[in-house]
Amino acid sequence: MTDRLTIRRPDDWHVHLRDGAMLEAVAGHTARTFARAIVMPNLSPPVTKVAAAQAYRERITAALPAGSGFTPLMTCYLTDNADPGEIVRGHAAGVFTACKLYPAGATTNSAHGVTDVRNIARVLEAMQRAGMPLLVHGEVTDPAVDIFDREAVFIERVLRPLLRDFPALKVVMEHITTAEAAAFVEERGDRLAATITPQHLHLSRNALFDGGLRPHAYCLPVLKRERHRLAVRRAATGGCPRFFLGTDSAPHEVARKESGCGCAGVFNAPFALESYAAVFDEEGALDRLEAFASENGARWYGLPLNEGTVTLVRGGVLVPERVGDVVPFHAGERLGWRVEA
Ligand code: NCD
Ligand code: ZN
Repeated sequence: MTDRLTIRRPDDWHVHLRDGAMLEAVAGHTARTFARAIVMPNLSPPVTKVAAAQAYRERITAALPAGSGFTPLMTCYLTDNADPGEIVRGHAAGVFTACKLYPAGATTNSAHGVTDVRNIARVLEAMQRAGMPLLVHGEVTDPAVDIFDREAVFIERVLRPLLRDFPALKVVMEHITTAEAAAFVEERGDRLAATITPQHLHLSRNALFDGGLRPHAYCLPVLKRERHRLAVRRAATGGCPRFFLGTDSAPHEVARKESGCGCAGVFNAPFALESYAAVFDEEGALDRLEAFASENGARWYGLPLNEGTVTLVRGGVLVPERVGDVVPFHAGERLGWRVEA
C-alpha cells in the first residue's frame, strides 16, 4: 500500500478567487498547492476588458503570500456585446488565456452573460482563428427544462451545434456532472475537454437533503443522481487525457449560504488535492492522479508542465468547520491524505 505519493505540482483549471476581502482570505489556499489556476471572471462587474483583467491579476498577486510562485491565468467574461478585437488583443498580449461563456442567468453573477450563442458568432470565429479556448458553463437556462436535465439538454441544444459551426474551436466543458457529458467529451476527440470538481466526485444529489436541507452542498451545476456521480468518477480516474482537475472552488460567506435563498458554490480550495486523492485512492487509481491533476490540463492548453512537486501523505487531515467566514467542503470530516508542508 502506497503511503506517500509525490506528483508534479498540479494546476487548478477552474477557480473563483473573488475580490477584496474574500480574495485576501482565499488566494493563499489555492496557491498552497497549485502552481497555476484559470481564474473565473464572474466578478461584479464582470471582467470583460483587458485592462480590467490586468488589474485583477495584480490584485490576485498582491493577495498571495510572499514567494508563493503562483500564476493566475485570466479569463474574459463573454457578453452579448463582447468585442472580438479586444479579446484577441488580450490573448496576444498574454492577459486572457481563455474566454468564459455563461449562459445569462445560469449561475452566480451570470446576469451579464450571453443570451444566445448566435450573438457571439464573430467572437467565436476570432477565438477559433487565434487558437483561444472557450470555457463553457454547460447548462441551458430555459425554465421549462428541469434543473437536473439542464446540462444534458445543453449538449444537444447548444454544444453540439457550436462544435459543428466552429470546427477548430477548442472548448472546455466546465465542471461536468452527468454521464451524458462524460460520454460526449470522451467520444469527441482532441478539441473538447472537461474539468471535474471534487464535490461532483464525492457527492450525489442525496447529499443536498441528508437529514435536512444542506446549503453547503449546493453548487451549480447542481449535484446529480448516483449513476451520474459514478460516470463522472470513471471519467476522472479512467485515464482519458481530456479530463482534468478544475475545483470550481466558489466561496460564499456562511450567511449567504445559510439563507432563504442561498448562493450556489462549494469552497473546496483548502483541501482540494486531498479530496481528489481520496477519490483516486477509493477507485484504485492513485497512479492516475498525477496525469489528471498535473499533466492533462497543461497539455491541452499547450502550456509547459510545472517543474516542482507536491507530496501527499497517508494519515489524513481533519477539515475544520470554518475557514474564515466560509464553511469548507468536507467540514468536520477526516480526509485520508494530506499534502506535506
Ligand atoms: C459559482 C460562483 O459562485 O461563482 N458557483 C457555483 O456553484 N459553481 C459559479 C459557477 O461556476 O457556476
Ligand atoms: Zn465556476
